[in-house]
Amino acid sequence: MKTIDINNQHLKNILNVFLTTLLDTDRSTFPYPKSDITCDYACGEEYLKVMQNKKADGFPEKTHGIDLMRFSPPSQLLRDALKILDKNLITWSGSRNNAVKMLYPKGGYMGWHHNANASGYNILLSWSEKGLGYFRYQDPVTKELITMHDSPGWTCKVGYYGKLTESDRLYWHCANAEHEERFTLGYVIPHEGLWSNMCEDIQL
Ligand SMILES: [Fe+2]
Repeated sequence: MKTIDINNQHLKNILNVFLTTLLDTDRSTFPYPKSDITCDYACGEEYLKVMQNKKADGFPEKTHGIDLMRFSPPSQLLRDALKILDKNLITWSGSRNNAVKMLYPKGGYMGWHHNANASGYNILLSWSEKGLGYFRYQDPVTKELITMHDSPGWTCKVGYYGKLTESDRLYWHCANAEHEERFTLGYVIPHEGLWSNMCEDIQL
């Protein structure tokens, strides 16, 4: 995974219009799943080993946050903003893929998983106010754990999630929002050409 700059003013506008509505919405009643482990454990070496010994399908088993794609917020304004966000991003990207939209409360996390069930090229756009959260992955070859810290505002990471059959590209990763709320839009794009065009566009 590598970080790229978001220079595209049109994309920034799309993201920030949505963000304004999200931040104006009362999020305190959102049905976040119960947190039964700590952020440190969800993103730590011990839990990585537990998951790797399980032959996991690729989905995260432990998450403290909600996907705004699956949960319909009570606020009509936010529901409308989500529809507009999708429409604008699909038009902008030329991609039919709807992005996952994960909102983590302060103390949120997504435990170790590898997404081999949704393998392909990815684009992650994350927002937090102060940039205190992080994305962590295990290098598929060296097995080293690499932590990619957020920066204040939006950050963009791009990379590839391998299939189960691509052992040198199987991509274990997790996310941590221990200290502040964090929002991530995640795309998986099956075609390398389309993905690399999107990466270029983001930096334009
Ligand atoms: Fe993931």
